Amino acid sequence: MAQDAPISQRSSTRAPEDMPTSFGFTTVGEGQKQALVDDVFHKVAARYDVMNDLMSAGMHRVWKDAMVSLLAPPKSGGRPWTLLDVAGGTGDISTRVVRRSGETVNAVVCDINESMLAVGRDRAEKAGLSDLITFSQGNAEELPFPDKHFDAYTIAFGIRNVPDIPKALREAHRVLKRGGRFLCLEFSEVDVPLLDKVYDAFSFNVIPPIGRMVTGDGEPYRYLVESIRKFPHQERFAEMIREAGFERVTYRNYSGGIAALHAGWKL
Ligand SMILES: C[S@@+](CC[C@H](N)C(=O)[O-])C[C@H]1O[C@@H](n2cnc3c(N)ncnc32)[C@H](O)[C@@H]1O
Repeated sequence: MAQDAPISQRSSTRAPEDMPTSFGFTTVGEGQKQALVDDVFHKVAARYDVMNDLMSAGMHRVWKDAMVSLLAPPKSGGRPWTLLDVAGGTGDISTRVVRRSGETVNAVVCDINESMLAVGRDRAEKAGLSDLITFSQGNAEELPFPDKHFDAYTIAFGIRNVPDIPKALREAHRVLKRGGRFLCLEFSEVDVPLLDKVYDAFSFNVIPPIGRMVTGDGEPYRYLVESIRKFPHQERFAEMIREAGFERVTYRNYSGGIAALHAGWKL
């Protein structure tokens, strides 16, 4: 997989908004990327959940369930326990975590995109979970929360969209309490011969046309596919999580590396 130089090693002599980063296969300034990403998610918000199922053949549900199993939220309802689900979009992870806990924990979905949050709020209300899940607009790079506030931090299929990934990881570390859990689920690098070819063919030739059929526009899905190919390899990403201060960092691949779940602790 072709990759730019690791973001954390780029020259710091330029203004942050001019730092090159990738918007899919296009190189843009960090300052430009967020607006382009926001445009993608404004366009797909209404059909996001349907497209997730179509694009991953339902596999995103399996990977998300595995993430929540590893998180193992408490079920007792003893002391208060709060999850921060960043780039939480329509609230898929938070809904699962709250349900897994027997509806005893609280979750905050934080996302930069109001269109995605609006779909999530609606879903939580219909599921009768509005008292336990709150939706808050915010940037992963500058979280609007105090230090040492949350018991766990999750980010699913969100981190690759963030222009300054090391900054977002440092923010994750800042808002977690000591003993807090960090979990990141992301599309990753396929390490199974042949599967990588099939996956590439499916991603580039099937996903954008499905996107066009379902939403009337294939371009946002081209970005999603390209952005997956630009994301750092599992090992490098684990290193970036360590550089942000997390300890006992591990990862596991799902479906031959189509997705990977990285985990760490704030100790
Ligand atoms: C692919 S969706 C994932 C949504 C959800 N976590 C899931 O797994 O279904 C990516 C989300 O990242 C959000 N996002 C992109 N850049 C962000 C940023 N800088 N801060 C917070 N959220 C961001 C988008 O608005 C979008 O909702």
